[in-house]
Amino acid sequence: MTTQRRNPQPQQPTGSQKSLSLFPRGEYHRGSSTDSRAPCPILNSLANHGYVARSGRNITKPELQAALAEIGLAYTARLALCNIAFKVHADEGDSNAPPGSSRLGFREPGQVNEEGEDVLDLEQVGRAKAMEHDVSLTRQDRELGDHMRLDKGMYERLLTVAAKNEKKKSFHLWSLARYRRTLYTEHVQSNKKLTFGIPQHTAACLEVSAMQAVFGKGVFSGVPAEYYEAVLGEERLPYREGWTPRRFMLLAEILAFAVFVAVLAWPFGPF
Ligand code: HEM
Repeated sequence: MTTQRRNPQPQQPTGSQKSLSLFPRGEYHRGSSTDSRAPCPILNSLANHGYVARSGRNITKPELQAALAEIGLAYTARLALCNIAFKVHADEGDSNAPPGSSRLGFREPGQVNEEGEDVLDLEQVGRAKAMEHDVSLTRQDRELGDHMRLDKGMYERLLTVAAKNEKKKSFHLWSLARYRRTLYTEHVQSNKKLTFGIPQHTAACLEVSAMQAVFGKGVFSGVPAEYYEAVLGEERLPYREGWTPRRFMLLAEILAFAVFVAVLAWPFGPF
């Protein structure tokens, strides 16, 4: 079976990739600048822990599903996310779009590995007009700067959203929702080409709700700030901070959190 690829990749692993592949699965090592990385801190963390290829390249659907199982994400959420992600990307309204393709998919037509399995690279997760959106928590809008990598200033500002709860600082759904609303108001002013409608708002609220479901200590306790710092700041799963993945989670929980955040953060009026 031939390997059909549209985005050129090196055939041989570089020195750093070779040595990284020797690290045991689960061990954290930040990738190098030649590794492929997404605008999603969770996908990057999975690569940094070797739950998917540390290079971030040629990731298969079963590999990503197994990696998402490592963080205890609900089975149906894993299935749905991976089914969408591995679709061939087609821009909205493209009359030549191949059957089965989707606006939300990341792959190029014929993008398979040597075994003929569908694969994707993490940087494709940031492709335009798919899932990536404006008004991120830690990435700049596509029109204004780097939409792929963490912006230090935005990250530092996000950390101020955590509230002191007994002894520790935590991120609560309601503070993050209010913050998302503030960000939207600012971006409407600063980005004349802002693209942010209901689909983007939904995606942004799902990201916040998935963080609560995976790392939260309960709705009222929120997510410890140190977990957010590990995941967003270092793209590392917060094992050292005492986090352990949940054994069971329902998709309904993520969706319920997302509805709560979406309503509180609703930026389009008239609430
Ligand atoms: C197949 C699985 C996943 C895919 C394809 C995916 C995709 C994405 C994409 C495209 C973005 C960029 C959005 C933007 O432009 O801001 C993003 C951001 C984000 N993702 Fe994921 N994601 C996945 C899994 C997860 C999971 C399981 C979580 C939480 C536990 C998560 C948490 C986040 C967060 C918090 C952000 C926001 C970063 C920011 O706003 O700065 N993602 N994800």
